[in-house]
Amino acid sequence: MDAERKAVEPCSIVIFGASGDLTARKLIPALYHLFKEKQLPAAFRVIGFARREKTDDSWRAELRVALDEFSRTKPVDDVAWAAFAQNVVYCMGDLTDPAAYAKLEQLLNSFGDARLRNNLLFYLATSPSQFGDVAEQLHNAKLLHRHGGEGWQRLVVEKPFGHDLASAHALNNELTRFAHERQVFRIDHYLGKETVQNILMFRFSNSIFERLWNRESVDHVQITVSEKMGVGGRGGYYEEAGALRDMLQNHILQVLSLVAMEPPVSLEAESIRDEKVKLLKSIRALKPEDVAKQVVRGQYFAGVVGGQPQTGYRQETKVKPDSNVETYVAAKLYIDNWRWSGVPFYLRTGKCLPLGASEVRIQFRPTPQVLFSAATGGKLDPNALTLRLQPNEGISIRFNGKVPGTSIGVRPVRMHFSYDTEFGAYTPEAYERLLLEAIAGDATLFIRRDEVETAWHIADAIRQGWEGRSLTNREFYAAGTWGPIAAEELLSQNGHVWRDPQPIK
Ligand SMILES: NC(=O)c1ccc[n+]([C@@H]2O[C@H](COP(=O)([O-])OP(=O)(O)OC[C@H]3O[C@@H](n4cnc5c(N)ncnc54)[C@H](OP(=O)(O)O)[C@@H]3O)[C@@H](O)[C@H]2O)c1
Repeated sequence: MDAERKAVEPCSIVIFGASGDLTARKLIPALYHLFKEKQLPAAFRVIGFARREKTDDSWRAELRVALDEFSRTKPVDDVAWAAFAQNVVYCMGDLTDPAAYAKLEQLLNSFGDARLRNNLLFYLATSPSQFGDVAEQLHNAKLLHRHGGEGWQRLVVEKPFGHDLASAHALNNELTRFAHERQVFRIDHYLGKETVQNILMFRFSNSIFERLWNRESVDHVQITVSEKMGVGGRGGYYEEAGALRDMLQNHILQVLSLVAMEPPVSLEAESIRDEKVKLLKSIRALKPEDVAKQVVRGQYFAGVVGGQPQTGYRQETKVKPDSNVETYVAAKLYIDNWRWSGVPFYLRTGKCLPLGASEVRIQFRPTPQVLFSAATGGKLDPNALTLRLQPNEGISIRFNGKVPGTSIGVRPVRMHFSYDTEFGAYTPEAYERLLLEAIAGDATLFIRRDEVETAWHIADAIRQGWEGRSLTNREFYAAGTWGPIAAEELLSQNGHVWRDPQPIK
């Protein structure tokens, strides 16, 4: 993972929601891989907390079946698993029941090593409506502040963190009634991705790009997070969320803040998060009348994705037949600061698009069309730098080259760096990185309170602009296409076009 390993102290990781999907699919596979790669502390315990009746052995057996399915390396190493599983125990209880926390404390106190008793990572893999209860009960049981300040205690909370500013603010108040802000680690799993972390390395460890990273050189920026899948069995959840809440408010604004923020004064978590918040606060506020001009929503109807028929969103299970929920959103935002004044940032995300990919494209200003306009018909392709976040992680630069021959033919060519080719196909799961950082107490990759609230402020303004408006024909798109016609117009007003991610072999 890192050339330099994180210093991690022995600790206990308590997972609330131990019988749930996230635990089986992501958390246990991540912990198993960290263990196998000797990244976990020398001594550790994983304690699963949920209501369902299980023994240590039956929980381990279930986790092993899940690991066989979800592990990123296969087959699972039996010896490593057996050694890992010895540290895994189950604690049955209801998270609203004080007696269950007394039992949990008893279990912790049975560990010989004081660090396993006092260094505690509480991972809240439950419904967000239960986060406050868990924090309160942990506080009452004195598990959030052990023996007057021994060891460390941290709360890791999953997304979604609220569904608007008011609910996020209330949830923050609830959590920080019982825990200090520095104990709260809010997850956005996008920040655990190697390529997302690499945005900062790329920007601030190279001299050739950063000096171009401003309004003098950049024409506009496009951030695309496209998904090939529809909502599938998650129609019920999606009806409450939509693309704005599910993707734009968190992942896309996080990527935007890393791409556009000012250099931090240090690599300390607070310095980086200060700059991200500053950037989010510099995004020009959208009034309802701006939303109509600068934001497009869309919803897919039946089509074909990757050669497979796809039903329309309104026909999906648990979706209202007249639903106006957006499965696509595109926005044109402006950042009102010295670096970016006047540069449009185009953000888009959607379901049932032709390709699942995440990309940031920095498009540079065109050259004066004087020398080669005859050879190119005045259409010289502008230079672009593309950060491919997933899949086929890499970085490409597009520039113009002479077509060999006696004429002055010019055409765009691409210089490409691929992670896999350079470093081998080692791509740890985001959750591995995030769990390790939380154990090490480094909050850089987690979202601070003011960050999450500022991002909701932006999303709420968009939602208010949509309020009471039904989708129009220009906002529907066939599954398997790159989105509604209105999204094309959003860019064409400024003479721009979307550059769709391409499959990379
Ligand atoms: N699944 C994913 O891939 C994914 C991805 C991103 C974010 N998330 C977030 O992660 C969280 C968990 O998601 P999930 O999909 O794992 O949910 P899930 O499968 O529904 O699991 C919920 C867990 O909470 C436990 N639980 C519920 N009520 C409880 C109570 N009163 N006392 C003790 N335990 C209780 C359940 O166990 P018992 O029924 O045994 O009590 C179960 O283990 C959610 O916030 C979700 O938004 C999930």
